[in-house]
Amino acid sequence: MRKTPVGPPDRPVVNFYGIVTASPEMMELFELVKKVARTEAPVLVRGQTGAGKELFARAIHRLSGRASGPFQAINCATLSASMLASELFGHVKGAFTGAIRSRPGLFRLADGGTIFLDEIAEMPLDIQAQLLRVLQDKTFTPLGGTESIQVDVRIVSATHRALRSAVQAKAFREDLMYRIRVVPIYLPALAERTHDVEALTWHFIREMNRRGGRQIERIGPGAMEALLEHPWPGNVRELQNVIAYAYAVGEGHILTCGELPPELRGESPPDELSRPVAVDDNERRRIVEALTWANGKKGDAAERLGMSRTTLWRKMRELRID
Ligand SMILES: Nc1ncnc2c1ncn2[C@@H]1O[C@H](COP(=O)(O)OP(=O)(O)OP(=O)(O)O)[C@@H](O)[C@H]1O
Ligand SMILES: [Mg+2]
Repeated sequence: MRKTPVGPPDRPVVNFYGIVTASPEMMELFELVKKVARTEAPVLVRGQTGAGKELFARAIHRLSGRASGPFQAINCATLSASMLASELFGHVKGAFTGAIRSRPGLFRLADGGTIFLDEIAEMPLDIQAQLLRVLQDKTFTPLGGTESIQVDVRIVSATHRALRSAVQAKAFREDLMYRIRVVPIYLPALAERTHDVEALTWHFIREMNRRGGRQIERIGPGAMEALLEHPWPGNVRELQNVIAYAYAVGEGHILTCGELPPELRGESPPDELSRPVAVDDNERRRIVEALTWANGKKGDAAERLGMSRTTLWRKMRELRID
């Protein structure tokens, strides 16, 4: 174990369209991204929450022949089926109560570019059928419309879970699965990436230093050890929040262990019981606590938990928290 505070290592760090890494596994994925970006093949990015799926989707767009065209992103997990349909395919005036004017929909707005369908495993089945049609004959019909519209859109989607099991559960169409994951890209979790916890820690420290205020130059041995040992369930987003926490609560040029959030110091948050509990129970309580702390504001609660608002929303639904 190191005894003195350390500065940044001199290992090579790559910044690939905003994706910072020192990990050879990730660099290999960049090579794959460079190749598939130039094609029209639908790509499915799979990875845990906060692992960088959206950054990959954006990189694919920017490296493609469509880079000067639009990039439209939508989260399929946060909208009701009818809202999602109208967001994606648009509607004509009077299509439903409240449709006071027509809306083009994202597929039309993404014409000539890329559409990013986040959390695609959560897409309702009837919308899956419409999406299949767009993939097959590049046409769709807006809600309440009579004419079909032709578009030229490249599809990149993402999911945190296996589509195959969604297919087995009859929640996802098998034909659609094959269509959208012509090229699957599996993002490793942060904890599995060689050197990345250290590389990204320094990346976020540099970003925070650049804002002025506290200037961290070295990391104390205890803090480094805690960072390296943490399992990072919230991946890079969680790490980013941990560094922001240290800037908020600490001072001086050395990042110390005491400035890390309790879960990194091997302590349980104050009001958490120490008896072992089932994962679901534990997670449920963590979420309820965060929501209580945030007065029900999901955005704040999600930030505290180191997960995206979408993930929080999904987990709340799975764990039946309202
Ligand atoms: N390798 C990386 N380098 C720099 N920043 C990163 C990296 N990976 C992720 N981030 C940052 O972490 C946050 C989460 O990344 P992103 O939104 O791409 O994750 P995600 O996999 O789409 O997460 P979710 O499933 O929760 O939507 C973003 O702020 C992003 O900029
Ligand atoms: Mg995302």
